[in-house]
Amino acid sequence: MVPNRFREDFAPLRKENPVCYLDNACTTLRPDSVIEAVSSYYTETPGCGGRSPHRWGYAVTLMMAQARQAVADFISAPRDELVFTLNSTAAINQVAHGINWKPGDVVITSDKEHNSNFVPWLQLENEGVVEVQQVSSNEDNTFDLQAFENACAQVGDNLRLVAIPFTSNLDGVTNPVAEITKIAHDFGAEVLLDSAQAIPHNKVNVKDLGCDYLAFSLHKMLGPSGVGALFATEESMANLETLSGGGTTIVSASKDNLEFLPGPARLEGGSSNYAGIAGAKAAVDYLSNVDFEWLSDHEIRLNQIITDGVKDLDEITIIGPSKASVRGGMTAMLIDGIDVHDLAIILDEAGSIMVRSGFHCVNHWFESKGLAGGSLRTSAYLYNTEEEARQFVDVFSEAISALG
Ligand SMILES: Cc1ncc(COP(=O)(O)O)c(C=O)c1O
Repeated sequence: MVPNRFREDFAPLRKENPVCYLDNACTTLRPDSVIEAVSSYYTETPGCGGRSPHRWGYAVTLMMAQARQAVADFISAPRDELVFTLNSTAAINQVAHGINWKPGDVVITSDKEHNSNFVPWLQLENEGVVEVQQVSSNEDNTFDLQAFENACAQVGDNLRLVAIPFTSNLDGVTNPVAEITKIAHDFGAEVLLDSAQAIPHNKVNVKDLGCDYLAFSLHKMLGPSGVGALFATEESMANLETLSGGGTTIVSASKDNLEFLPGPARLEGGSSNYAGIAGAKAAVDYLSNVDFEWLSDHEIRLNQIITDGVKDLDEITIIGPSKASVRGGMTAMLIDGIDVHDLAIILDEAGSIMVRSGFHCVNHWFESKGLAGGSLRTSAYLYNTEEEARQFVDVFSEAISALG
């Protein structure tokens, strides 16, 4: 067995017969340090940040500043360009409903958007605020840069925002986001990268990317549930409306004068998820000690085992490119004649293997192709092992031959 030094840090993996958890694109496990940071907020300093001057209040204010710094550093962003949110969905909604749209504005997305980067734009379209255009992918589901550039050219001056997934949760394909950003900027549009599936697996530097907004969720990168982040450049953030006006958002509020604070505070109305934010810092501290080149190779190695093990089964069609290396740690499969939910339950009950089944919140992609059954998706992370990948292949193949 190839040793995996990370497993020791995760309580569910220290159990006598640990599950084989391959649903990391949905949410990841949390290391002890994250759980301790969350717990320590409640046991040691259970106060409010930015308000009370007593020692707990001060400790939480300090912790919030340090956590913002750590999460911002993790993506090479200035601290004042990082807003804490509930999750990626809330971050994207802040942009969708925070921009002062002009009549005729167009938003370009792809045909593979997670609902979180699709529904907000559809809502705006249904309200008559923007027009939404979806760029079709290449035949193998990779991003079609030429079609994208053509769409930008066709929309012309009305192109206001390009909202694209960094890495797709449908098939694991990472898009050429630096090129996409450059093209969009050449057409005068802003760029939002839905990075929920990218930040956990790649060293991302927002300065190098040049994007205007970037959204991600801490629970997909070893952090607690209920904490996400929105990066927005100083200029873009200054132009976003406050959606949740309230405590800690204002300089002054009276009937005659309502003046908001600058920076992230204006977009973080009310008390925050202090315990979660303490855990977010612990998560990025943990990930800062992970070699991301190793991580990418590791995930691809596991994905190669899974891909090789399933690709020749008659019932299976892998969504996206056939090469595992283009899909990171993810393999999503269409399965002919077998209910994917039944299969996922059998994998869990017979082999303690946890995977995702269904539409993965990309319902429109399945609908557009008439694929009513959805897919079954494996997604690996740093604590998974080659043995687990082989275990998946064995149990999965047996289940397919029993059900098929
Ligand atoms: C690509 C992508 N975008 C957005 C989201 C939404 O994340 P959250 O539910 O944490 O807001 C997900 C979650 O699976 C995702 O995979």
